Amino acid sequence: MGPSMPDAFEQMWADLAPVGRSASTTGYNRSPFGTAERECHAWFVEQCRARGLRVEHDGNGNTVGWWEVSTGSSASAVLTGSHLDSVLDGGAYDGPLGVVSALAAIDLLRERGFEPGRPVGVAVFAEEEGSRFGLACLGSRLAVGATSPEQARELTDRDGVPLEDAMAATGLEPALGRSAWLDRVGCYIELHVEQGRDLVHRDQPVGVASAIWPHGRYRFDFAGEANHAGTTLMEDRHDPMLTCAMTALAANKQAQLAGQRATFGRLEVAPNGTNAVPSRVIAWLDARCESEEQLTALVETIEKQARDRAVRDGTQLTVTAESVSPAVVFDRDLAQRLASGGFETGAARLPQPPMKPIIPTAAGHDAGILSAAGVPTAMLFVRNPTGISHSPAEHAETADCLAGVTALADALQDLAS
Ligand code: GLV
Ligand code: MN
Ligand code: MN
Repeated sequence: MGPSMPDAFEQMWADLAPVGRSASTTGYNRSPFGTAERECHAWFVEQCRARGLRVEHDGNGNTVGWWEVSTGSSASAVLTGSHLDSVLDGGAYDGPLGVVSALAAIDLLRERGFEPGRPVGVAVFAEEEGSRFGLACLGSRLAVGATSPEQARELTDRDGVPLEDAMAATGLEPALGRSAWLDRVGCYIELHVEQGRDLVHRDQPVGVASAIWPHGRYRFDFAGEANHAGTTLMEDRHDPMLTCAMTALAANKQAQLAGQRATFGRLEVAPNGTNAVPSRVIAWLDARCESEEQLTALVETIEKQARDRAVRDGTQLTVTAESVSPAVVFDRDLAQRLASGGFETGAARLPQPPMKPIIPTAAGHDAGILSAAGVPTAMLFVRNPTGISHSPAEHAETADCLAGVTALADALQDLAS
């Protein structure tokens, strides 16, 4: 008999806590195929082995630990999991909470004496954040075939390292393309820390996702004329920084007016010298809206304002949509089933708990990719007291995390019976 589920959860959380943590900010840098992320990945493999889960790697950097069945069907598996990479200086919970909770849910099911009638898999997807190669959910996109190997081979990180070279440098043997394990997946349930305060306002520890807002990443290349910062008259300049700065302000204003979201969070300046007007500024817009029509309209408005300003500044602008993800509406029956918690769990809990709220999110997830690929998919969210995410301040209380594990275990028990 191993430790009880709450102790196992705390131990796993403690194992991961120091990995990739910045001493100065306490945030995490678990860059895909980097040392810290691979350490987390190796830890996951160890945890699977300790639980007797069969470990399967694909050629895309994703790993699945399978709880195989002794009797019953080996098809139509129930998959859960999340990711172990982080944004730059990210929080502890975005990703790892789903992986640790999945392992803890298996522990809880075993404590309950549950024997699955179909396989249960725990997946760790590679490069969910797109922090290194720019394309969010790269591992799941490759797994389902939403991104082709050819498209993925074009991707490079900020130092120009191609994806396959980055994989090979960590000892992986890349074999990009649709993952064979996908064929046995009947449904996917991802647990995630909430990245807003909806559950706080509703006074609920756990919620269920209804949908993901459509969202996209757009690269704005502003080109101007490099020149001396002291001797160039202000009226003689073609400064791309000005066009960029006005565009960032316009994005914020237009998103506010439309009640949507737009962010410029990444910038590259060339040559990046204090005493020179820059020759070039590249800025990345992250835009997210309630509908695809609103997303298109918002990005068009921002781009138009940027072009108008470029004319005034004598600069040039090129806009490239690097990725656009359409709206995702999760499987309604599955969401309802998770929300009611009223299914036959074997460990009958009477009276039945109240309905969990079913709420949309503006954050992207591997669950969105699997759902778009036709896999019936649902998500559980765990309350985040401040709502802060993609930041070292991201947090969830342990009691809420354990409530999330219980909700996930109930769902797995229901679906894998
Ligand atoms: C992923 O967390 C995203 O929404 O960017
Ligand atoms: Mn995430
Ligand atoms: Mn994230």
